[in-house]
Amino acid sequence: MPVTTIEWLDNKVKLIDQTKLPGELVHLHIDQVEVLGEAIKKLRVRGAPAIGIAGAFGVLVGVQHFNGDDKGKFFSELDRAVTYLRGTRPTAVNLFWALERMRRTAEVNKEKTISQIKLLLFAEAQKIFFEDQETCRALGRHGAALIPNPATIITHCNTGALATADFGTALGVLFTAHTQGKKLHVFVDETRPLLQGARLNMWELMQEGIACTLICDNAAAFVMQRQKIDCCIVGADRIARNGDTANKIGTYSLAVNAQKHGVPFYVAAPISTIDFSLATGREIPIEQRAAEEITDGFGPEGLRRRTAPPNAVVYNPAFDVTPHELITAVITEAGVIRSPYGRHLPELQSRS
Ligand code: MRU
Repeated sequence: MPVTTIEWLDNKVKLIDQTKLPGELVHLHIDQVEVLGEAIKKLRVRGAPAIGIAGAFGVLVGVQHFNGDDKGKFFSELDRAVTYLRGTRPTAVNLFWALERMRRTAEVNKEKTISQIKLLLFAEAQKIFFEDQETCRALGRHGAALIPNPATIITHCNTGALATADFGTALGVLFTAHTQGKKLHVFVDETRPLLQGARLNMWELMQEGIACTLICDNAAAFVMQRQKIDCCIVGADRIARNGDTANKIGTYSLAVNAQKHGVPFYVAAPISTIDFSLATGREIPIEQRAAEEITDGFGPEGLRRRTAPPNAVVYNPAFDVTPHELITAVITEAGVIRSPYGRHLPELQSRS
């Protein structure tokens, strides 16, 4: 059973504070939308599908204590929660997708009573949660077929149970292959600057008993040069219609290095991560994060210490965009999609 990263329990959002991992397993119980927003901003909950689920639960948190029968006021409360949550992190489209599902659920049921709308919002948030579980399993099955036996793999950023409602996307593929009896060895990029690979992937893979070796992000090319790597597999935060893929900073370098060494490069993501409104990756908004994440390495607040001179000028994009030409296949819950992405990805739109 994968660890439960986020759930709705006793009218609160219960989530693992991932900034404390792997040192401590701390759960937060949140019933205020601002506190949930802070948890998303600070990456206490993170990973595109989990952020989407957090957004949906956040809307519930925002409206559940509303009293009275003034529908105008109820809808203003709802809009306030949605607008606030939209402003937390800009790149993972799953957040906007989930918030829009919640908003639409309220909108199409606006003639009903406030208590009925609240119940329908609860049902929609739970649906988003349970759909993600099924998605992970289907995606894992499709992706595992691409993993040879034995296999040596490189992955970047955390894409496991901590990033979803089940066992993950890219890591879910590896967990499925492992369960099928395949012998895996995973090289785990540490994933600077917040160390999702070192802190979270290693934690998940080691608990699962999968052989894994931690490397600095900048060791990946050398590993590909010196060892037989069967594939790289990563997740995604937003995929444009043409297949260009935003994922954790460093993914693009990994893809360039994979191409240079003839290593297949797979992106594993749910259809909810595809932004059908964007023609190319140029249009994907890229989150810029605080300079301290780099000047005060390593990892989240609490683990940091100063590693750069005072007033050092910093550029800290949290994501990059891998051009579609570098991607061998996109693994989704509907199957494995290959080039030309511009033709094949839009065919999935009816399933989103
Ligand atoms: O900044 P983060 O930790 O939220 O970034 C997460 C990633 O980039 C993941 O690779 C992506 O969201 C896919 S998670 C299944």
